[in-house]
Amino acid sequence: MNRLDVSRAGKNLLSLIGNTPLVRLKKIADESGIGEQVEVYGKAEFFNPGGSVKDRPALAIIETAEQSGLLTQEKILLDATSGNTGIAYAMICAVKGYRATLCLPESASNERKTLLKVYGAELILTPRAESSDGAIRKARELYAAQPGKYFYADQYSNDANWQSHFNTTAVEIWEQTSGRITDFVAAIGTSGTFTGTVRRLKKYNPTIRAVSVQPDVAVHGLEGVKHLESAMVPKIYDASLPEKTVEVATETAYAYAKKLARTEGLFLGVSAAANVYAALQVARELSQENKAGVVVTVLCDGGMKYLSEPFWK
Ligand SMILES: Cc1ncc(COP(=O)(O)O)c(C=O)c1O
Repeated sequence: MNRLDVSRAGKNLLSLIGNTPLVRLKKIADESGIGEQVEVYGKAEFFNPGGSVKDRPALAIIETAEQSGLLTQEKILLDATSGNTGIAYAMICAVKGYRATLCLPESASNERKTLLKVYGAELILTPRAESSDGAIRKARELYAAQPGKYFYADQYSNDANWQSHFNTTAVEIWEQTSGRITDFVAAIGTSGTFTGTVRRLKKYNPTIRAVSVQPDVAVHGLEGVKHLESAMVPKIYDASLPEKTVEVATETAYAYAKKLARTEGLFLGVSAAANVYAALQVARELSQENKAGVVVTVLCDGGMKYLSEPFWK
């Protein structure tokens, strides 16, 4: 069989962002004792050219700023990022010919830091103990000192972030499930994925349940995800949206990352594994109540960038 998708031939790299596959997680659902009437799916965001879900908001933030005149060739794109948004910014800036300065905690994995440099971004490392909040404070400080030098993308406050998911991720999920989705499950970093996807899905069908995923403690290993009770709450976060929250321990997410590789052949990052664990919890509850369901979660990125983490050994 010729599997070449000719519609994707000769396209600009950036046009390949989005339209990711929706993968059925049947084996792990079966192993978790979930009945046939509840289906669990993962949106395979590692298919994006930058390797994560963050390609979508990064492209929207950059193109919205180009259209409004905030981003020009003379300006440097500046933001705080735990890694994935930075990789997306750096890749898109390489394609479009912009410079990028990124603030990130020194605790970010070496693979991420190296990748950012490979794409040509300038890195400013902030103290490990201050996690992503320290990176945000540093970006604000740099922008305040030289506002004319930078386009401060500010993914935590920029509406183009959640709007990218409102306009793409949610539409794709709705179409890929033929409107059958009953529950959407996602972890919160900037909250863009959760906020934008939930707002659009609720427009299609207000009964779709929005389930947020949170680390169980303030100091955790779910890279890219915030513990909202103790961290700086993103401006774009809408606290009225989550109807249920599942807490995930870092060790559980690690265990599920391994389990997913072995049962589903999916080599995923830690937040994606946390999302799958939470989606399976939701599916199990539906199954125990003898309800039917179509539970969809987000596979934020692949495992490659975390390979040096000791838990894989
Ligand atoms: C690996 C990973 N998972 C989850 C998230 C959270 O996504 P969002 O910022 O849309 O809430 C991020 C955000 O950077 C991330 O990098």
